[in-house]
Amino acid sequence: MFGKIFLVLYILAQIGIALITEYVVSKHEWVKDIGRKTRFIRIIIYVILAVIPVLGAYLPHSSFKYLCMEIGNVWFAFFMFYAAFVLIFTGIAELIAKIAKRPDHRFVGHALNFAFLFALIIASYGLYHGQEIKLTEVDVNVECKGEVSSKPDQVRVVLLGDLHLSCNSRLKMTEQMVDMVNAAKPDIILIAGDIFTSNYQGLKNPEEYSRVLSRMKAPYGVYAVAGNHDVDENLFGGFAISPVSEAFRVSEMDKFFEDAGFTMLYDESVDIGGIFTLAGRIDGEKAGDGTSDRMDAKTLLADVDKTRPVVVLQHEPKGFAELSDAGADVVMCGHTHDGQIFPGNLIVPLFNENAYGVKKLHGIQTIVTSGVGYYGPPIRVGTDGEVMVVNLTFS
Ligand SMILES: [Fe+2]
Repeated sequence: MFGKIFLVLYILAQIGIALITEYVVSKHEWVKDIGRKTRFIRIIIYVILAVIPVLGAYLPHSSFKYLCMEIGNVWFAFFMFYAAFVLIFTGIAELIAKIAKRPDHRFVGHALNFAFLFALIIASYGLYHGQEIKLTEVDVNVECKGEVSSKPDQVRVVLLGDLHLSCNSRLKMTEQMVDMVNAAKPDIILIAGDIFTSNYQGLKNPEEYSRVLSRMKAPYGVYAVAGNHDVDENLFGGFAISPVSEAFRVSEMDKFFEDAGFTMLYDESVDIGGIFTLAGRIDGEKAGDGTSDRMDAKTLLADVDKTRPVVVLQHEPKGFAELSDAGADVVMCGHTHDGQIFPGNLIVPLFNENAYGVKKLHGIQTIVTSGVGYYGPPIRVGTDGEVMVVNLTFS
């Protein structure tokens, strides 16, 4: 549903921005003559670029589909900044022309130079920064609710999330992540979902990725939950264009998790070395079986050993009050990417109790990582991809 609305908005935005660009070109003293002569060829190039992401979303599985998706995501990165800047700068230039009583609209032409240049610089920076991973370290003291009999001194957790392996992934970045994780010497590694980006086939050489990921080592192992994108479905602009009933986890994904050495938790809990209990949840949006069904927090934690701290791993940072009532002591999540692209980092806190970092809510510690990878446009601006080290102490 949102995917189809987004498609209509996308087409309107492409047409609108193309018309504004043509208007600005016609007022541009440097390029108006050449602009007139090259209008036809420019429109053809623009239409091709605009159509590429649509082909990436709607074509059936093929290497051409994923090539379109890969190029389309980069085009999105440029287009979104260009659209914003051309609107802002043209608006300002028109205002100046009005105030300065310049009917020749000379300033308006310069709006195009600035919009194009700024968009190119910021998109290039975002592409570069999207490949960078920062090490974040936080100390979190957990006040256990239950009659905890044995409290560990400290547990060093590496929390990863949102790897978003896709057609836009680079193996080098996954290698860098694995090296950072091992160098942090964690007791346990937890992955909060969105290991894929809604398909398996788009990832080039998946065996290479699972081999690299299997190098991650920790004494208590590597545990993961699946996210809303660890299913096979078609996306446009980051929104699903098929219903939840058609979103299934494919067997190749399960095999990949196994090859990578991940112990997947689907609404189940495990004892971690007699130190704490780890409960991993099915994603509440896309369970992977064509539904949104998962156990409620009370049922999930009904029988877990509450004489030890209870750590919950889930993808989306939601339902903290229910988890607290059910006996959780700490919840770890991903999903938000901390907004990924400015001003997204200002918007996600409006929709999430904890959009990023550590927050004590409803009497429990909630920890949300910004994730390692990127979603849609392969860029980060104003946020960081991270490997999060969480030093848990219990009282
Ligand atoms: Fe994600």
